[in-house]
Amino acid sequence: MNDPHTNDSNELTPRPVRESVSEMAEIVMPNDANPLNALVGGRLMHWIDLAGAMAAHRHSRQRVVTASIDHMDFLVPVRVGDLVILRASVNRVFHTSMEVGVKVWVENYRSNEKRHVSSAYLTFVAIDEKGNKLAVPPVIPETADEKRRYEDAARRRDIRRAETERRRAVRR
Ligand SMILES: CC(C)(COP(=O)(O)OP(=O)(O)OC[C@H]1O[C@@H](n2cnc3c(N)ncnc32)[C@H](O)[C@@H]1OP(=O)(O)O)[C@@H](O)C(=O)NCCC(=O)NCCS
Repeated sequence: MNDPHTNDSNELTPRPVRESVSEMAEIVMPNDANPLNALVGGRLMHWIDLAGAMAAHRHSRQRVVTASIDHMDFLVPVRVGDLVILRASVNRVFHTSMEVGVKVWVENYRSNEKRHVSSAYLTFVAIDEKGNKLAVPPVIPETADEKRRYEDAARRRDIRRAETERRRAVRR
């Protein structure tokens, strides 16, 4: 791929995290579930990828590809008929890549309960129509939570890069 570049329509003016915040809701249907009537993990990962991409698109205003998804835990089972809520926002921009956090809850309308199902960190890279990487505008954290996520994202990037290097060395 070529060196990252910008074009006239993509100014690198910093944008606040709040402009990237994206929410998605899904009702779990029988074709999302396993024979025990519980949501399958792969379907939830698909929804997480979509919610994360929405935030990355909103922030970068460019096409994006998913470069990686960090470790994920599934904390509680989600049943057919439950309402799944996903909330995504850009935590930090590096250069052509950005870390997006996605948090998932399940709402059970019968019991009026809301429970945390999963959290995931995804890295998206902005590209043009030919697949060239593009620089992404910096993100401005404003709230205390956004500032914490911004700081933590740098630590996670270091871990990710070390792990990528380790895997590359194993493949050689
Ligand atoms: C992701 C992709 C664009 C990276 O391209 P590349 O030429 O290998 O990238 P580079 O090594 O120059 O890195 C470019 C940026 O991506 C980041 N990156 C690359 N691999 C990464 C990974 N595994 N995890 C997190 N970030 C990653 C780099 O840190 C760098 O970020 P920066 O510009 O903000 O510093 C390329 O590997 C690709 O197109 N992958 C396929 C994406 C795809 O199809 N996704 C859908 C999956 S089905």
